[in-house]
Amino acid sequence: MNFWEWYDRQLLATKQHDVPKYELEWLVLRLTCLDKLDLRLRSPSVSEKITPELLTKLDQLWQQRLSDRLPVQYLAGSLMWRDLDLQVTPAVLIPRPETELIIDIIAEHCQDAIYQNGIWVDLGTGSGAIAIALAQHFLKAEIHAIDYSKDALEIATLNANNNNQKIQFHHGSWFEPLAKLNLQNKLAGIVSNPPYIPSDEVLNLQPEVTNHEPHSALDGGRDGLDDIRELVNTAPIYLISGGFWIIEMMKGQAEIVRSLLIKNGSYTNIQIHQDYAGINRFISAQIA
Ligand SMILES: C[S@@+](CC[C@H](N)C(=O)[O-])C[C@H]1O[C@@H](n2cnc3c(N)ncnc32)[C@H](O)[C@@H]1O
Repeated sequence: MNFWEWYDRQLLATKQHDVPKYELEWLVLRLTCLDKLDLRLRSPSVSEKITPELLTKLDQLWQQRLSDRLPVQYLAGSLMWRDLDLQVTPAVLIPRPETELIIDIIAEHCQDAIYQNGIWVDLGTGSGAIAIALAQHFLKAEIHAIDYSKDALEIATLNANNNNQKIQFHHGSWFEPLAKLNLQNKLAGIVSNPPYIPSDEVLNLQPEVTNHEPHSALDGGRDGLDDIRELVNTAPIYLISGGFWIIEMMKGQAEIVRSLLIKNGSYTNIQIHQDYAGINRFISAQIA
């Protein structure tokens, strides 16, 4: 079978298996030297660029996508997030496109020297995506990243090295490593995309997520807010006056998190930010 015969057959299979067509294109582009134009123009030379061995490998991976519902990013082992080439394994959450915006919000709100030259922490770094993008943006800042998963920290370290960014990684639960480093009242910014899905919803997400992504990256406790409460209540001990705090959250959580921030009493300038789909996805605040 040549490449095009295989490709057309798999396009049909996407319908039968209810998998988006673009995922087939994505996997092919990620694992071969083909470009979008080759696929769009159905370039006849394509068959020469895809060796039988490569076609067999593509097919084996793609069949796992169809039958096991494995996300294509885990099958390829990497993805682009912003302009970063990141490795991913099932030990880390696949960084989502909407999370990219958290960096743009920080860039817009944190232009003063206290932020540019300050100490930043990414709590729950996973693949390291946010920390690495922060390091790329704040050239003079000191960037720390924390995760409770040692396997995730291994991937994050690899990603930081591959993207030539210097980040200090620490293992531990939320602020624990910061206490050991005596970073109380020293941080210019805290950023986090914490687990925020209510426990009983984690089991009812798409099978790609429920069956393959780490539940420790998703499960935010009974109401989804366990980790967010910790981030709201403990961050003021570590942030300097004017320090910036921002997290990602789930659709429907914005007003509750706003009230948690107000109730805490340490925050000012609380702002809710939307993602590309118009969902209230991020909330930021500053220490009064
Ligand atoms: C939603 S994922 C975010 C990953 C990454 N920052 C991103 O945006 O793609 C949440 C991360 O928090 C980590 N995590 C969960 N509980 C934690 C805890 N108690 N302390 C530190 N990290 C934790 C998980 O291991 C996971 O990597």
